[in-house]
Amino acid sequence: MAKKKSRYVCQSCGYVSPGWIGKCPECGSWSSFAEEIEEPEVSSSSKGARHEPRVKPANLRDVKGLETERTGTGISELDQVLGGGLVKGSVILVGGEPGIGKSTIMLQTAGILTRGNKKVLYVSGEESSSQIKLRADRLGTGTADIQILPTNSLEDVLSAMDEQRYDYVVMDSIQTIASADLNSAAGTVGQVRHVTYRMVETAKSRGITVMIVGQVTKDGYIAGPKLLEHLVDTVLYFEGDYNRGLRILRSVKNRFGPTNEVGIFEMSDKGLIELKDYCFADDTADKTAGKINVPVIEGTRAFLVEVQALVAPTFYQFPKRNAMGIDVNRMNMLLAVLDKKGGLNLAGSDVYVNVAGGMKITETSADLALCAAITSSYRERAVSPKTTFIGEVGLTGSIRTVSNMKSRVAECYKMGIRKFYLPEKVEFDKEIEIVLTRDISSFLDML
Ligand SMILES: Nc1ncnc2c1ncn2[C@@H]1O[C@H](COP(=O)(O)OP(=O)(O)O)[C@@H](O)[C@H]1O
Ligand SMILES: [Mg+2]
Repeated sequence: MAKKKSRYVCQSCGYVSPGWIGKCPECGSWSSFAEEIEEPEVSSSSKGARHEPRVKPANLRDVKGLETERTGTGISELDQVLGGGLVKGSVILVGGEPGIGKSTIMLQTAGILTRGNKKVLYVSGEESSSQIKLRADRLGTGTADIQILPTNSLEDVLSAMDEQRYDYVVMDSIQTIASADLNSAAGTVGQVRHVTYRMVETAKSRGITVMIVGQVTKDGYIAGPKLLEHLVDTVLYFEGDYNRGLRILRSVKNRFGPTNEVGIFEMSDKGLIELKDYCFADDTADKTAGKINVPVIEGTRAFLVEVQALVAPTFYQFPKRNAMGIDVNRMNMLLAVLDKKGGLNLAGSDVYVNVAGGMKITETSADLALCAAITSSYRERAVSPKTTFIGEVGLTGSIRTVSNMKSRVAECYKMGIRKFYLPEKVEFDKEIEIVLTRDISSFLDML
């Protein structure tokens, strides 16, 4: 096959160069050039000719709706993240740091999918067949009817897909597969984009479900996949707390379901195990000051997480303020409110705040719980694990209600919490104690 001609295009301004250059002479940005395939010039004679359209507009009323055909993966946490299962002909990107468990979940899923008499191709650019076999034996899918293709060439993958009709294709990982159409090495922006584009094209035209694994570099950026998010239908990210073996799968984009759904797994020697009804909160009922269980909403689910605060006299000229799992600016705002409106003198204290289990809280519903945790640590008075606080704290010291109050309360009740400090009354059919709190100063008096 004749090699296609390629060129280098600046990704920020579109400047074209025949070879790679480090700095764009047009816009001055660095390392912005990516290789792209040069489209053949349209000959001048055909330019004047009348264009024969391949598609014509149709009335929306006459367009037939597409029944999205979903297949369960057999892993209900994964199905939940996908919005109900894998959609035929869709492309799913699974991103995450090395070692988080992308290959593991892909192999586990592939094994389950073959049970429905479906054909599964597992393309591996990172590991040899025997390495995959070793992992599959460990996961208990060693005898599954999966076709393994260890290759780094996109053309090998496409011809394998031509020869045999597959229902599912797993590509592990996008950074290790390169097309001969481009000169650049696997993993470069041009290659990653081109390979994904070809896979999306093939998936859509033949109704194959493609799962693509993408490595995320340590600084949190996906080398490549970040710029693939708009090409694929669904983007899932794996994150987690390495020490506890906890893994959280999160959907950040989904054309066929809600986003920000999370699935929770634990890594074991038998692979990823689903953790249903997982409680991020520490369930040991010891009474230590400065920790509070609070419900947060992720997607459509409520979770209980533990927020911890430590207030200690400072040895520095400026007291230290540190937050893990919570925006440090938000914490500083709450500290200012506690100081000004609540009369809590924190000027001489270091304040540390942490969310247990490696979770991140991005919503404001945990404001009140944070204020309570900080106050609890400051006063050295423990809060009962059966008590929680839900509400957003404003700059004026007022406490406002938050969304999904009922499902938060229900989740807390499930986990044994019976006493709630809330800014509004909540109708709940089980017996709970609600303490109404509308502003921070009276809240601190009540505590
Ligand atoms: N024998 C084993 N027992 C338990 N866990 C293992 C074993 N081998 C590997 N793992 C776990 O699997 C992880 C690697 O998963 P893998 O799916 O290869 O990650 P990725 O593909 O995201 O780089 C390791 O970090 C480790 O936690
Ligand atoms: Mg891997």
